[in-house]
This record gives sequence, C-alpha cells and structure tokens, in this order.
Amino acid sequence: MFTAVKPQANLNEIPSDLFGAIKELKKELNAVILAHYYQEGDIQDIADYLGDSLGLSQQAANTDAEVIVFAGVHFMAETAKILNPDKLVLLPDLEAGCSLADSCPAEEFKAFKAARPDHLVISYINCTAEIKALSDIICTSSNAVKIVNQIPAERPIIFAPDRNLGRYVSEQTGRELVLWQGSCIVHETFSEKRIVELKVEHPNAEVIAHPECEPPVLRHADYIGSTTALLKYCQESNSNRFIVATEPGIIHQMAKAAPDKHFIPAPATNNCACNECPYMRLNTLEKLYLAMKNQAPEITLPEDIRVRALKPIQRMLEMS
Ligand code: 13P
Ligand code: SF4
Repeated sequence: MFTAVKPQANLNEIPSDLFGAIKELKKELNAVILAHYYQEGDIQDIADYLGDSLGLSQQAANTDAEVIVFAGVHFMAETAKILNPDKLVLLPDLEAGCSLADSCPAEEFKAFKAARPDHLVISYINCTAEIKALSDIICTSSNAVKIVNQIPAERPIIFAPDRNLGRYVSEQTGRELVLWQGSCIVHETFSEKRIVELKVEHPNAEVIAHPECEPPVLRHADYIGSTTALLKYCQESNSNRFIVATEPGIIHQMAKAAPDKHFIPAPATNNCACNECPYMRLNTLEKLYLAMKNQAPEITLPEDIRVRALKPIQRMLEMS
C-alpha cells in the first residue's frame, strides 16, 4: 500500500541542537509539523499545530506548506495525503499504525457492508484509506454525534470501526447503529476498579474520559469528549484535580494549559504502561528530524483509493 525508505536512527546524524536543526529544515522545506496530543512532549512543543483528529485534518486541508510532517499515526498521515495528493507527506516512523484501524480489514468490511445495501456507512477517521473509500461519511470523536444527528431518521446506519464510540454515539443520538466490532487497545485497557479506588482516594477529582473507552469506565466519567474537548474542559472546570481516562500524552498539554491543576492518568488493569499508545510512541524527535532530513518515509497510496476516500472526508469537513 505504501513504499518508503525507512531512515535509520544513526546517532552520528543527530545534531545536538535538535530543536534548532528541525526549525532550519522546516524553513528549507517549507514544511509544517502537525502533531497529535498523544505524541511525546518534545514533539508537541515543536509542532506548528497540535490537535485532535478533526483539528489535524482541518489543518491538513488548509495548509499551504509544501511538505507536511505528520507526528501521529499512519491513518492520520494518510488522511493528510488524501487531502493533499501533490504534497510530500512524511511520517517519522511508518510502523506507527493503530490497533483500531487494524481491527477493520477491508475485505471483511466489504462483505459486512454488502449484506446491508440500504445502510449509510459512517466511519470513524481511525481506519485505513480502503475503509474510507468504502464509506459515505467520515467522522471523528469530536463530530460523530453532530454528523449522525444530520442523517434522516429513517436511514439505517453502519458505524465503523470503533464499537465503543459507536455505542456512545448511539446513546447520545438515540439512533440504532449497526456497529462494526473494532476497538482501541489503549482505551480498552483502563481498569474500572482502579479508577474507583482513585475516586475514593481523591473525592474532589473529576473523571474525564475519551469515548473510545468501554462502558464501565464511561459510566464513572463526569465528562466525555475528544482530546481537544477534554483539554478545554479541564481548563474551564472549577475542579482542580482530574483522573484522565485517555492516552496520557495529553497531560503534557493539560499541565501547560492549567499549571495549577493536577492530572492523574487513569491506570491500566495490570500496572503496565499499556495506557500509552505503543504506535504513537514510536515517533521520536530524532526520527522526526531524520524524516525531514531524508524526506522519507513518505506516505503514498493508489490514486483510485485516494479519490474514493476523499469524498467522505470532504463530506465530514462540510458537516462539521
Ligand atoms: P481524537 O484525536 O479525535 O480525540 O482521537 C483520539 C485517538 O485515539 C486518536 O488516535
Ligand atoms: Fe489507535 Fe488507540 Fe493509538 Fe489512537 S490510541 S492511535 S485509536 S491504538
């Protein structure tokens, strides 16, 4: 699906002033660095734009830079390429995939869709370009409810690939959705028991959660939203302590935005660091530098899939 030369992390190639070297390359290449909140702190700090999946795709749709350096995972960089076929789109580590995107193979989804020919297909942006090409509308965690609410009540809907977001959207809209049974390994790792223990330990703390979490965790949440919505909520809330049930990379921004508040990452079931997205964390500042220096790994995709995947993304941008 994509070809690229993977840059080798040769330490001799890494300058001591990495931030300075990246800024130089940015000017040289006329590049923009787009980063998701789940990236490591240094990458967040050097990004030109930091955001959730919707914000990042809006930025990708509007940038006039010639090169897009995407500090996120593959489906995000792929979305940027779908929107910008003539631009060079770089991903620091091509192995930065997504368990949720992997949980929806195109051939199986094609059959699932064929069995329900009258259904409209709304797919969460966390999916491959092939799944986007099979969809009518794309959504993200910040606009899914808004988009489903715009669909006429009599039209049946398939929602893919995240069953947790799908269930949450169904509850919020009162619509019955046919759910593809995919999920995110990170958001399904949080321990309800340990969140309850933390609530007892910190009775004034609010639980804030991403809708990719499972229902037992969402039931304890005082607020549910996309990463951008969670960030905004903890700035505006009167509480000064939060138990954060999403990838803890976001806490870097929360602590910057509200330095007097306390943020407790929701723990995983078995004391592991499984609440950190192993794919997002493959990107490092060194790999980002090398990607810009080598202008690789580059995202490429077949033109027929790109064209078909573009339509549902454009519909999302219009409906957001
Ligand atoms: P948002 O960026 O839409 O909050 O989604 C989080 C996520 O899981 C990205 O992979
Ligand atoms: Fe995919 Fe989950 Fe990682 Fe987001 S946090 S990129 S949904 S695996």
